[in-house]
Amino acid sequence: MSQTVDMRVRLGSLELRNPVLTASGTFASGREYADFMQLECLGAIVTKGVSLHPWTGNASPRIAETASGMLNSIGLQNPGVEAFCANDLVWLATRDVPVIVNVSGHSVAEYVAVAERLESESTVSALEVNISCPNVDEGGMAFGTSCPAAAEVTRAVRAVTRKPLMVKLSPNVTDIAEIARAVEAEGADAVSLINTLLGMAIDTDTFRPKLARAVGGLSGPAIKPVAVRMVWQVASAVAIPIVGMGGIMSVEDAVEFMLAGATAVAVGTANFVDPTVTRRIAEGLETFCRGRGIDRVAELTGAVKL
Ligand SMILES: Cc1cc2nc3c(=O)[nH]c(=O)nc-3n(C[C@H](O)[C@H](O)[C@H](O)COP(=O)(O)O)c2cc1C
Repeated sequence: MSQTVDMRVRLGSLELRNPVLTASGTFASGREYADFMQLECLGAIVTKGVSLHPWTGNASPRIAETASGMLNSIGLQNPGVEAFCANDLVWLATRDVPVIVNVSGHSVAEYVAVAERLESESTVSALEVNISCPNVDEGGMAFGTSCPAAAEVTRAVRAVTRKPLMVKLSPNVTDIAEIARAVEAEGADAVSLINTLLGMAIDTDTFRPKLARAVGGLSGPAIKPVAVRMVWQVASAVAIPIVGMGGIMSVEDAVEFMLAGATAVAVGTANFVDPTVTRRIAEGLETFCRGRGIDRVAELTGAVKL
């Protein structure tokens, strides 16, 4: 049982020490979690979405608990790319962990401007372009639900960055595989999926929606089977690596995503339940492999037996 497991995986040219990432928007820039765990045990930190200018986000209430999950309509609140670089990135530079910056925008030009600003920042290991946020009126998910729009954003950002480029896909589509193919064709190095599913909850005392915005994004265990299915479909449609997410709470959940075809996984809502969950999953994944005589964690990717 003393066998060592090779936990390294690759997302394009980016090598990660293990396949466990944080899901954007659920781990801020890691600072708050550094009190609970060594961030160096992560494959990478994926930051909250960063836009060109500061965004205040949506009105409250913007979180509602649901059976096996949560609804959020935060709306990509963030301080803007300049403040992000001056504060979060400076702090992240002191940590020995790859940083993947989640990029958001209201327009193609805005995505491009953020990517251009980040290009000279050596602390940024890769970009994750969010074309799937359900909580903004302009941009966001609008880019991720049409092949031409998804292709246009990817092409435009690809033109201004040499960093590994990951595109985050929306589950709120009829055929996620065709969107994945469209962004792969425009030079994406990886895709990540899924973002939240559009949902709604209504308070039966007040007859009002539980979220001020009425609708929001559903995350957590409730969405996991949908996410696993989508990872599996995308895995057979593209050759680029997939970062799978949606309701991962345990080592077994992470393994399931890898078996479906994910090269790496991201953990989101579970961080709100247990701030050390990512460390537990990273360590548990190694134990899982060792216990089964698996030498390289990458062997799990796509290993589902049909
Ligand atoms: C509170 C909250 C904020 C989020 N913010 C972002 C974001 O800024 N950018 C993004 O691409 N995804 C964002 N997401 C989506 C998550 O990264 C993830 O795709 C989704 O929640 C599914 O994973 P989970 O079920 O493990 O949470 C957010 C999710 C939550 C719950």
